[in-house]
Amino acid sequence: MRNRHLSTILDLAAIFVALMIGVSLVQSAVADSNVEKSLYERLGGYEAVSAVIDDFAPKLFDDPIVGARFFGMSDDSREGFRQKNKNLVCAATGGPCKIISRSAATTHGGLGIKASEFDIVAQHLVDTLNKFNVPEREFNELMAIIGSLRPDIVEIED
Ligand code: HEM
Repeated sequence: MRNRHLSTILDLAAIFVALMIGVSLVQSAVADSNVEKSLYERLGGYEAVSAVIDDFAPKLFDDPIVGARFFGMSDDSREGFRQKNKNLVCAATGGPCKIISRSAATTHGGLGIKASEFDIVAQHLVDTLNKFNVPEREFNELMAIIGSLRPDIVEIED
């Protein structure tokens, strides 16, 4: 008789624990759906950021105008440039990457970069984002981040 009581209590306890786990799973699912995802997550995480830069960077190197800026860079330096840009975009969009480049002002200062060159670079990024069908909201947010660097990069308004 005592054992039967004990097993009923244990059964009830097990049901209670199962219910609590169920409630907390539902709660965390609701919480997840309410938390606004970062731009990084909405873009598709590191794989997506990496694919975007891998498509974008060679366009700069091969461009008839801004390509001259990258003339004479070794493959290793180009790879470094790509990786720095991946980390920058990843970090600036809320991802877990560490920025491994120096500031935009430091690295572009003195190059005499023209506004028209900045526009060519930005247009290449637009083309890449369109190629990857990045939705309008994420497209606008990323282009706003890139646009915010313009004053640090452009030295000549032509
Ligand atoms: C549109 C926004 C731009 C971003 C986000 C960007 C990003 C970067 C980054 C992360 C680096 C590496 C910095 C480092 O070594 O620490 C870099 C270097 C450089 N960028 Fe930009 N850049 C932009 C625009 C431009 C423009 C418009 C030009 C000229 C057409 C340009 C030309 C260069 C050059 C020549 C280097 C140095 C490459 C080297 O010798 O290592 N960038 N940029």
